[in-house]
Amino acid sequence: MTAKKKLVVLTGAGISAESGIRTFRDADGLWENYDVMKVASIDGWYDDPKLVLQFYNERREQLRTAKPNAAHVALAEAQQRYDVHIVTQNVDNLHEAAGSKQVLHLHGELTKVRSTKNPALIYDIGYKSVNWGDTCELGSQLRPHIVWFGEAVPAMDEAVQIAQQADIFAVVGTSMAVYPAASLIYYVPDDCPKFLVDPADVPISGITAIREKASVGVAQMLELIDKL
Ligand code: OAD
Repeated sequence: MTAKKKLVVLTGAGISAESGIRTFRDADGLWENYDVMKVASIDGWYDDPKLVLQFYNERREQLRTAKPNAAHVALAEAQQRYDVHIVTQNVDNLHEAAGSKQVLHLHGELTKVRSTKNPALIYDIGYKSVNWGDTCELGSQLRPHIVWFGEAVPAMDEAVQIAQQADIFAVVGTSMAVYPAASLIYYVPDDCPKFLVDPADVPISGITAIREKASVGVAQMLELIDKL
């Protein structure tokens, strides 16, 4: 039996849009009615941590009832035919909920929090709230396990290694506006077929673009990939 081809998929907010989770840049810089820079930056955390905690508590509550859509499911099913690696900018857990086994979160995970004293102390809290005054075992405030603007992206090195080994590379539902995540495509081998699923015109050269919503476009893309 030959080894499965490695299908690497970079996903963004657009893949979860049809699960009821709003994207960032489709909403005039507002994210679920908050100023993105107030709730998703390290400066925002220092300015008003209670607002930031409230924002992520609301996001966790929203995620509790969100369901994976056809795009998440199609990528999970593709694991039967491909060695699928999802590199996601999303902090939701909908790829995992759909059954994807190899998911790397570039920007952190909503269902986890960590110590503000020792970043290695990470706690899985599911959909529970975290409030001002909730502390880690060292007695320091807990914060969302999210990569904010102004912070390093620790998972990027691993993502680069995955991208470098891709046999097929796909981009789904991201504006490719945020770095370093968007730079991942530069590490993909030149001869690797590349696909994009997004209803908007995301300018990436040398890519087969499917201008559809993820629920429809991912299935179309997988049909094309199956014919390679
Ligand atoms: P954006 O909001 O920048 O882009 C969302 C993309 O999804 C756009 O290209 C839309 O056209 C597309 N889209 C909308 N609906 C779609 C659908 N139904 N199916 C497919 N695509 C659809 O979101 P990201 O690129 O993910 O970081 O943003 C990157 C990062 O910026 C996020 O991870 C977040 C944000 O600030 C942090 O919070 C650190």
